[in-house]
Amino acid sequence: MWKGRFSKATADLVQQYGESISYDWRLFSHDILGSIAHARAQVKAGILTEDEFSQIENGLREIENEISEGHFEFSIEHEDIHMNIEAALTERIGAAGAKLHTARSRNDQVATDTRLYCRDAIDDLLTLLGGLQNALLDQASRYAETVLPGYTHLQRGQPVTVGHHLLAYVEMLARDRSRLTEARRRVNVSPLGSGALAGSTINLDREAIAAELGFESVTTNSMDAISDRDYIAELLFDFALIGAHLSRLSEDLILWCSSEFGFVTLSDAHTTGSSLMPQKKNPDVCELTRGKTGRLYGNLTSILTSVKGLPLTYNRDLQEDKEPLFDSIDTLTIAFKVNTEMISEMEINEEACAAASQDPLLLATDLADWLVKQGIPFRAAHELVGKAVARSVQSSVPLNKLDLTEVDPAFTPEASSVFSLKTALEARTNPGAPSIKNVRAQIARWRGTPSE
Ligand code: ARG
Repeated sequence: MWKGRFSKATADLVQQYGESISYDWRLFSHDILGSIAHARAQVKAGILTEDEFSQIENGLREIENEISEGHFEFSIEHEDIHMNIEAALTERIGAAGAKLHTARSRNDQVATDTRLYCRDAIDDLLTLLGGLQNALLDQASRYAETVLPGYTHLQRGQPVTVGHHLLAYVEMLARDRSRLTEARRRVNVSPLGSGALAGSTINLDREAIAAELGFESVTTNSMDAISDRDYIAELLFDFALIGAHLSRLSEDLILWCSSEFGFVTLSDAHTTGSSLMPQKKNPDVCELTRGKTGRLYGNLTSILTSVKGLPLTYNRDLQEDKEPLFDSIDTLTIAFKVNTEMISEMEINEEACAAASQDPLLLATDLADWLVKQGIPFRAAHELVGKAVARSVQSSVPLNKLDLTEVDPAFTPEASSVFSLKTALEARTNPGAPSIKNVRAQIARWRGTPSE
């Protein structure tokens, strides 16, 4: 493509070092869309005839089909997807193909392709994210009334329901959805027409190209447009945070399916055995999700590090943006799919949850609240209940079986009314609290259906 200036061919090692076709081939359909829009603008500008445009469009569609069907032969001599396609086109249609690159550089081309690719990837990931939310909602609804201990510091704290616990992840994913939707707006801007860095003396209708490609607007500084990879960094951050959320969900499930907790049974289809210990049933999907979150973080670090020292505008370092991007998209795509399947098929062990919830200490705070309702300041109430708990521990008499009136006269026999999980949950009606009514209303809200 640049043979005019050079007297020696590129060294083999340099070709191997610099090629990106082995991974950027997947931009092919976006590259072709961009080229067709660009060519149409060239017709408008009088650079291409209608006939040349048709040759280009047909040639590009033919190449696209061949790539889709796996018949196209990529070559590292042509370095990247842009040059592979352009070379093939010119080989097929001759002169018209050689006109296509007028008023365009691979710099604005790759930025355009990558933005189009990201836009599609965001849409696909949003669909998958919604699928996982639905799986969580189904299980939240199925186990809306299953009480289990809520933990802080991994110590039993207060009663919640499985529904409430799972809805916490629906919330996290909703924030992820809103981040991706926001990011999509910034992705959806057309850099095409920025040229190598300073636009072109041949002015094509950038707005029309952008409209054809479904972009909402055009970039307004050619130098920034060429070197901007913020949208990739932003997406990789959003993906990393989704990873964090999936990883926390994984960790909860890993704990819950241990014999120590026993709250959940994952399907045999989503667990693996041990080659040595016949009894094992391991939550590998959860562990892999937790582990792959490390890759998502690594990819974010990679893009941030690649751009930090770059002078304006394009530098070849920027080619390093695509592998981390593709890797994070691929990683999350399968993570969403496999987790959705696993969550849909898991079974909560209601007896184990009920047994763990029988611990009367889960209601120690409710006992303090009861004292508060009798007019005792919370700090004093906290201390009195603390004393009762200490006595329960010393005497091995469960808190709900202890004669509380002996601990302090502030306790009357009515105090023991707090030792009912049903009452405890029913009382938690404030917005965001886990009463069953609230949980059902939240499920209905997420589903967009009116609550009963
Ligand atoms: N393969 C290159 C990339 O991904 C395309 C742009 C190359 N531009 C250049 N001036 N060498 O960044």
